[in-house]
Amino acid sequence: MQVDLRDAYLLIAPRPIVLITTVDKQGRINAAPMSWVTPVESDPPTVAFSTSYESDTYHNICETEEFVINLVPEKIKKQMYLCSKNFPRGVNELEKAKLSWEPSLKVKPPRVVECPANLECKLDWKHEGPEYVVIGGRVVAANAQRDAFKDGRINVSFVRPLLHISDKNFAVAEREIGL
Ligand SMILES: Cc1cc2nc3c(=O)[nH]c(=O)nc-3n(C[C@H](O)[C@H](O)[C@H](O)COP(=O)(O)O)c2cc1C
Repeated sequence: MQVDLRDAYLLIAPRPIVLITTVDKQGRINAAPMSWVTPVESDPPTVAFSTSYESDTYHNICETEEFVINLVPEKIKKQMYLCSKNFPRGVNELEKAKLSWEPSLKVKPPRVVECPANLECKLDWKHEGPEYVVIGGRVVAANAQRDAFKDGRINVSFVRPLLHISDKNFAVAEREIGL
């Protein structure tokens, strides 16, 4: 079957969901779920994600040039979804969703405590498209809970990463399989 081209992106799924935390120049915290996210290089460690020019995430990164990518586990799916609501700029979605945060090691945006792994990033480059902007970040610190990173890789049965299919449809990665 042919899929409508506007739905083409839905065929690259399911994708891991992250909460991206940023701060504005006054230090006010913002958190937004994103799934258009990918590593682009391992050395230097670089990650990228796509967002709209309207997002508070984009405005905060323009102001303060830092962000943290927090891996979302299944157990916070409701809180994650609440963070996607369109709160006014300056509202801390983590507070609204009753999630907790702690200082990062190398950047001002905090890490989400309930997320078992996170990447602290500094803005490296921006690719400005007509509707969307792709933001590239240099990873300056990478952190994981001990049980979340086992034998040099994500422990999916412990983390249960939440994956995005579309709208309010999700999947969970829960079992590792070998070749
Ligand atoms: C599971 C999920 C994935 C999302 N992925 C993205 C994404 O990759 N890029 C994006 O701009 N918005 C994405 N959104 C929508 C944003 O989370 C939403 O527009 C949010 O209000 C932006 O927050 P902000 O204005 O605080 O940055 C996603 C929403 C959900 C629920």
